[in-house]
Amino acid sequence: APVSAPDFTECGPADKPDGSTIDCCPPITKTIIDFKLPDPGPLRTRRPAQDLAKDPVYLAKYKKAVALMRALPDDDPRSLAQQAMVHCSYCDGGYPQVGFPDLEIQVHFCWLFYPFHRWYLYFYEKIMGELIGDPTFALPFWNWDAPAGMYIPEIFTDPTSSLYDQYRNAAHQPPKLLDLNYGGSDDDVDDATRIKENLTTMYQQMVSKATSHRLFYGEPYSAGDDASPGAGNIESIPHNNIHLWSGDPKQTNGENMGAFYSAGRDPLFYSHHSNVDRMWSIYKDLLGGTDIDKTDWLNTEFLFYDEKKNLVRVKVRDSLDTKKLGYVYDNKVPIPWLKAKP
Ligand code: C2O
Repeated sequence: APVSAPDFTECGPADKPDGSTIDCCPPITKTIIDFKLPDPGPLRTRRPAQDLAKDPVYLAKYKKAVALMRALPDDDPRSLAQQAMVHCSYCDGGYPQVGFPDLEIQVHFCWLFYPFHRWYLYFYEKIMGELIGDPTFALPFWNWDAPAGMYIPEIFTDPTSSLYDQYRNAAHQPPKLLDLNYGGSDDDVDDATRIKENLTTMYQQMVSKATSHRLFYGEPYSAGDDASPGAGNIESIPHNNIHLWSGDPKQTNGENMGAFYSAGRDPLFYSHHSNVDRMWSIYKDLLGGTDIDKTDWLNTEFLFYDEKKNLVRVKVRDSLDTKKLGYVYDNKVPIPWLKAKP
């Protein structure tokens, strides 16, 4: 059977890597609405964060949306604080599995990784659109898979901007090149070599090593299963490495990006995951990848608060087509690793 949506009334403390706990539980609402795909309207086109510096109108909207999220009271489910707690509860053991009180729900290290984060970003994007009164607003992606995006997008590094977060690695500010295989320490590889290595990594993770659903999506995870059966390629590398590379090594748990409980406090998180989500689209649209056809995957459920503060129950099966969710990725962005066969 599929993993059921969590029961928010059973939410408990979440575990931090250092062994302490934190309360990340969401507000409780009695009425749960089943998600219905929206009526087709204008598509939201997600664009590279790297390009926004040249588009003051879009950038202003993005900054305003995040500023408004930050300004909401901490108990408003649309606030940035609560959005971060969504990740904390779903990823650090905040919820027991319904029917299996000794098991936790964990959306990483298994086949729920892509669909959970797609839904999470879907609501985050809709909330931003609602707050700025622009339903066409699309969440930019950090295109770390192409040389033009292999550093922290500059729009996130202005300390006066709502997109800034103080808990990041000071040694990894632009133009410091991203290492998609970062393991916790910097080496002194020159930029040209690093870019080549990064592109090879992308090719391996997306193409040459993505030879099965298990390898691409991660291992099956059904009701009653122990958490974390195994991550898919992109989740392991480079997704995890980019979290580690971005967080502040001076903080106990590499906050913010370096720990599940805190990653969603940094606006950079959502653009990082927008690109992870884009990799799922590329896998299907350009590489011939298909969806998993197992009902345990398709019928897995999650709960999220939407842009109107309604609590909504979603299923993996409704996340498979981004167009049906109202968004697409800018398809004019170069994807050089497609030809980076080593
Ligand atoms: Cu839910 Cu990048 O992790």
